[in-house]
Amino acid sequence: MVRERQLQNFDELVLAARASRTRAYAPYSNYAVGAAVLGSDGEIYKGCNVENASFGLTICAERNAIAAMVAAGCTSARAVVVVTSDAGTPCGACRQVLAEFSGPNAPVVCIGEGSEQHFTVGELLPSSFKFQ
Ligand code: THU
Repeated sequence: MVRERQLQNFDELVLAARASRTRAYAPYSNYAVGAAVLGSDGEIYKGCNVENASFGLTICAERNAIAAMVAAGCTSARAVVVVTSDAGTPCGACRQVLAEFSGPNAPVVCIGEGSEQHFTVGELLPSSFKFQ
């Protein structure tokens, strides 16, 4: 039953990340990214990449999803799904933000068109920076 619930959550997360990817604003790179995180509150939060003519202002999908979760009052993600064309992995900045708002064992699934990669947050960023 727990496993069934987990799988259902996972399917919902994938659908949410795919839906979010269709909203990506990526006219400069043409690389659309959709992300969805499952909060510890059981809710799903979505984000897409939002680019800017001033390229450095671009915000990644993963960080937008985490920001939506935090803005809703939840500060811990249980699982993360990222959808791209090529199963690309979160950038370094996003890894640090995922480490801030999830445990090291939280799964991160990167899905492409025909391939996927599975990690944990701790695998993606061992020894993440922590403020002492
Ligand atoms: N991008 C993300 O949304 N997430 C990542 O982790 C890596 C990169 C976006 C930023 C930019 O809009 C495009 O992908 C190409 O770098």
